[in-house]
Amino acid sequence: MSEPSRPLLTSRYGISESWKLANAEQAGAYQVARKALTTRQPAELKEEVKKANIRGRGGAGFPAGVKWGFLNPQEGERVYLVINADESEPGTFKDRSIMDLDPHRLIEGAIISCYAIGAPIAYIYVRGELAFSINRLEEAIAEARNAGYLGERPFGIDHPIEVYVHSGAGAYICGEETALLNSLEGRRGEPRLKPPFPAVKGVFGMPTIVNNVETIAAVPDIVEMGGDAWASLSRLPGDGGVRIYGISGHVKNPGLFEAPVGITMRELVYDYAGGMLGDRPLKAAIPGGSSTPVLDPRRKVDAPNADHPLHKWHGMSEIDVPMGVDTYRALGTMLGTCCAIVMDDTVNMVEACRNLMRFYKHESCGQCTPCREGTGWLVDVLDNLVRGRGKPEDVDLLVNIGNNMMGNTICAFADGTAMPLLGLVQKFEEEFIEAAKKGVPDGVRHDDSVRSMIEGAA
Ligand SMILES: Cc1cc2nc3c(=O)[nH]c(=O)nc-3n(C[C@H](O)[C@H](O)[C@H](O)COP(=O)(O)O)c2cc1C
Repeated sequence: MSEPSRPLLTSRYGISESWKLANAEQAGAYQVARKALTTRQPAELKEEVKKANIRGRGGAGFPAGVKWGFLNPQEGERVYLVINADESEPGTFKDRSIMDLDPHRLIEGAIISCYAIGAPIAYIYVRGELAFSINRLEEAIAEARNAGYLGERPFGIDHPIEVYVHSGAGAYICGEETALLNSLEGRRGEPRLKPPFPAVKGVFGMPTIVNNVETIAAVPDIVEMGGDAWASLSRLPGDGGVRIYGISGHVKNPGLFEAPVGITMRELVYDYAGGMLGDRPLKAAIPGGSSTPVLDPRRKVDAPNADHPLHKWHGMSEIDVPMGVDTYRALGTMLGTCCAIVMDDTVNMVEACRNLMRFYKHESCGQCTPCREGTGWLVDVLDNLVRGRGKPEDVDLLVNIGNNMMGNTICAFADGTAMPLLGLVQKFEEEFIEAAKKGVPDGVRHDDSVRSMIEGAA
């Protein structure tokens, strides 16, 4: 496996006014689309994406090539591409960098993908708060249309392709693909029951491929290099390429870094992000946005059997396991959006947990009882623990509520709430037991000062 010698996805980020067509084209934009649409067959392009082994960059890590293969449009059905740019997960800020700094890469990816899957229309569903990204995309789409790359005959071929931006209204749940489709249709943004999956019955009842911004932005490089070559940029089998890692929290140099799939959390924190702020100890890292179980550097990988997928890392710290979709699943966490939240030893885990759970309570769409009620209960119990009003049995109660949410709802929102909760309680149980006895002094102070500010303002 070869490490990439130059950035791919972020190669144009440093160029002056990189979002303008002329500048992007000077650095190679649209060359792959032109060649692909004029000289290659859609089936060949789909094959390259399959060989690339690109796992969806939106969180679930489903192989994009396999998803595209589920399409089987019936007579009279129109195929749609929907690009998920809702990016609302706490800690996640990679997709907006593509939209802001290199919107033409996303549009080029959309053009090639539309051609490959036989879709005349791509919708980019953008989180409502990202007004800047929306403007950037609108301007870039207009430029691409004027240049003849979109419209009735993109690059002169007989395959109309249009790309439209659709703004959300700021609800995290609309990132869930079927809630997104409802919202796109003008309905309430609530998840749909699956099956049918979007590839069979998606937007407007038609076969639809939903992919994340970064997944689609990778398509030009995959087609240019060939799927096999792109796959081999990764350090892991079955999980190809490079990706944009995000990192925030207590590190010296938070931000976005392009790197091969399979670097470790230790490398991300200490090599890419410059180490811990003030050289304090790393206490915990939530790997991929907020919905994934936390890593604890004190914990060692327990995989003594040779047939265990993590046997190679047996006895090593959790933060030394390569960051991949399957490796992290085997570790009992998830890679998610691959945007880590890093905490040093000053953080109280009960307070951190309450902070996260408040987000989920606020964002639950309320359709399913375990999620609507469970998120509220979690915040109430955690509030009591932080404020010193907890009881010893509250720690078990948290676990009980989390377990009742897992797998019992229409979409994965409840799992994405319960998993980080259960991970925090399991790995930092002593802090929860301590809080049940004495509360969290800092947490009370913080909470009260915010409360008095709100009350003062009112
Ligand atoms: C609550 C929730 C929020 C989500 N938010 C996003 C999001 O903002 N962006 C995204 O690409 N995927 C998000 N997803 C995952 C999507 O449902 C879907 O798996 C993804 O868009 C598919 O694209 P991919 O295969 O390229 O990753 C979310 C899922 C859930 C359950």
